[in-house]
Order: sequence, then structure tokens, then C-alpha cells
Amino acid sequence: MDTIIIEGGSTRLKGQVTIEGAKNAVLPLLAATILPQEGKTLLRNVPILSDVFTMNNVVKGLNIALEFNQEKKEILVDATGDILDEAPYEYVSQMRASIVVLGPILARQGHAKVSMPGGCSIGSRPIDLHLKGLELMGAKISQVGGDITATAKKLKGANIYMDFPSVGATQNLMMAATLADGVTVIENAAREPEIVDLAVLLNKMGADVKGAGTETLIITGVERLHGAEHDVVQDRIEAGTFMIAAAMTSGDVLIKDAIWEHNRPLLAKLTEMGVEATEEADGIRIKSDLTKLKPVTVKTLPHPGFPTDMQAQFTALMAVVNGESTMIETVFENRFQHLEEMRRMGLHSEILRDTAIIHGGQDLQGAPVMSTDLRASAALILTGMVAKGQTKVTKLNHLDRGYYQFHEKLKALGAKIERVSEVEHV
Ligand code: UD1
Repeated sequence: MDTIIIEGGSTRLKGQVTIEGAKNAVLPLLAATILPQEGKTLLRNVPILSDVFTMNNVVKGLNIALEFNQEKKEILVDATGDILDEAPYEYVSQMRASIVVLGPILARQGHAKVSMPGGCSIGSRPIDLHLKGLELMGAKISQVGGDITATAKKLKGANIYMDFPSVGATQNLMMAATLADGVTVIENAAREPEIVDLAVLLNKMGADVKGAGTETLIITGVERLHGAEHDVVQDRIEAGTFMIAAAMTSGDVLIKDAIWEHNRPLLAKLTEMGVEATEEADGIRIKSDLTKLKPVTVKTLPHPGFPTDMQAQFTALMAVVNGESTMIETVFENRFQHLEEMRRMGLHSEILRDTAIIHGGQDLQGAPVMSTDLRASAALILTGMVAKGQTKVTKLNHLDRGYYQFHEKLKALGAKIERVSEVEHV
């Protein structure tokens, strides 16, 4: 079991950091590689993350040939043979995001059986919107023995209004609609940059998807799709995490290739706090003086609102900025567990349902803490850089799902941080 050990208190991050391709983009892109019956698909700028290995296993489990060249950060997929239409529990249970294979398998095979994803520590994550949309497209859905079975010889275009702009449901329905008969209109669709990235790949494969990035998607079904080449979009959440790391440590860091437009909601809040953010030719520079930063109120919302995936990291910043800040989490209902861990470091905060009041700027002390989920793990490491003394962060399996070489990147910027493998005591 690995532990990250941080000596905090005097770190000022300086230099430049390179960002990987986005985890939340590559997972649905891999699901899309199931669709083409001709030609191979090449994905470039693929991040080396445990979630990517899990999704690779889901795709390979369908009898699809997949090669991951980690040195080149490329994945080559050949789905031209006969494929299976069942995604087993063994892999789906490891990662909720694997539910996005349901739409592509059903669209291509006329039948799909995918294990129902299990529980999640950040809150309830139903898939009703995925299933309702597929039903409107003519699929018969049943749920038996923990599996979802969907059948439709040929899906039909439909008008779908989503109660909530779910990212996963939008991706599933968009992929299913590419091979349906006729036109599908998805209203109140998710608008995240990762949705746009998926639409770009689908269109390269021969699909007809219009409106990605707006709240209305119009997808005209086609007969067949073919392989394509695609660069995965940069990870705005990884980029944002380093922006916050720089802001918290009175740093001066260039986040290379970060895309301003994708990080606009975060940049607006950082600027409101007093952080200096500038767009440069090769990325975004963040400069800050922690003693001068002001507390703010932030509310998470679907894109283009403030991302829930930046909430934990932003509360780490709120914890070290003098004064009372407020974080309102509207997307997931149980996403403040990191604040309980930060309490061990001396943080004063109050949580009432979806709102956390954070009394920032008190002296924080290093402590042993446990990651409770992916973004919480990054938040705890960032807090450890500012807290005085030693912080030990465990349960790094969460971190490895979404951050590649996180501690090496922070170390190169000047953090006093090590990752050690500890032998478990029996
Ligand atoms: C994706 C991201 C995740 C991010 C989240 C919100 C990936 C792989 N994961 O997750 O990192 O935190 O978007 O930005 O891209 N909901 C329903 N019914 C549904 C589907 C969702 O009620 O059928 C609700 C969920 O309970 C949740 C909210 O919608 O409260 C957001 O979920 P959704 O946008 O679907 O998130 P994911 O696609 O699971």
C-alpha cells in the first residue's frame, strides 16, 4: 500500500507543468471505438491511468482487439470482427463510467447486457436518464440479477428531454443515436468539453452530430461508422488542480497547454479571490500571494458552471485563505468527506446539507489522512503542502484513477513530497 508523504509549510511552487489528456474524455472515446465496423481507431494523448486500464478491459472483454502503447500514449482499437454484446460485472463493477458502453453495444448489436454499476462514495448515481432515453429510442429494457438488458433490432430517432444535463447519459444516448434510424434530438444535454470531444470523434467516424457544446444535440443516424484518428482533449480538471496548487502556495506556475475557455468558471473564481491568471501562448500562468487572497462563495453546477470535480481542491484553497468561504455542492449529495479528513489537520468547517462553511486561514498542522475519493485525494495532498509539518496521505488507489505522476509533477515544481511503498503489518 503506497503513501504520499509531504513536508509542508514553506512550499512555493514555481516552474511549468505539463497536462495529460482528459480522463473524462478518453473513457467515452474508448466506448465509441466499439462502434466502427470498418477500419481501426487510433486515440493519441491518452493518459496512463488505472481507469483507462479498466475501460480497456471492458472493451477487450467484448472481443475487440486493443493495443495500448504507453510510451507513445496511444491506443489502437480494431472492432471490425464479430463482437460480443455483454460487458461483465468483473470490469463494470470497478468503474461506474463503464456504463457508457451500453449505448454503443446496443446500437451496433441490437442487444446489450451490461452489469448495473454499483455504489459510489460521492453520492447516489442512478442511471435512469440513460435508460429512459434508450427506451424513447425504442429499446426494451429489463433488469435481472444485477444486469441491465437492452434490446432493439434497430434504434429509432427520438425527441429526448433530459431532466438534468447528465454527462454520462448524454454520451450514451449520443453514441446510440449515431446508428439509429432517423433524427434524435437531445434537449437539456450536457455541454462539457468532453461531450464536444466525443462528438468530434464520432463525426470523424462518419456520424452526423450537431450542436455539441450547446444544450440541444441533433444526431442524424447513419448506416455504418468507420475508424478514425483523434487526439484526446487536455484534462481541464488536472490543469485546474495545478492552478489551485499554485494559488495555495503563493506560487508562479505555467500550466502548459491548459485551455482558458475550458477552465473559465474556475479562473473567474480564482480571479475574484485575487489570484493573477494570464493566458500565455503556451498555456495559463497562475501567480498568487496567499496573504492577499479573499474568501469567496462557490456553487457547483453542470458546465459551464463551476465543476463539481474541482470542488474538493477548491475547498483546500478556501481552507488556507483568511476568512469565511462558502462552498455549495449541487451536483452530488455526499461530496464533502475530504473536509472531515481536513478536520484532522485543524480545519474548522461546518456542513449543512449541500453547503460547507469554511473558516480559512487558521494554522493547519500536518496529519495522517485518508483519500476518500479521486478529487479528495488531490485536495488532501494540496492541503499537506501548506499545513505545517508532515502529512501522510493513504488510499492512493483513488489518486491513480485520475492523476498521472501527480507527486512527481508537484516535486518538479518544488514541493517536498515523496511516495513510498509501505509493507503492510499483519
Ligand atoms: C461525469 C464525470 C464525473 C463528474 C460528473 C459531473 C466522467 C467519467 N465522469 O460523471 O467526473 O463528477 O460527470 O460533472 O465523465 N443523474 C441522475 N440520473 C442519471 C444520471 C445522472 O439522476 O441517469 C444525476 C447523478 O445522480 C448526479 C448528477 O446527475 O447527481 C450528475 O451525474 P452525471 O452528469 O451523469 O455524472 P457522470 O456522467 O456519472
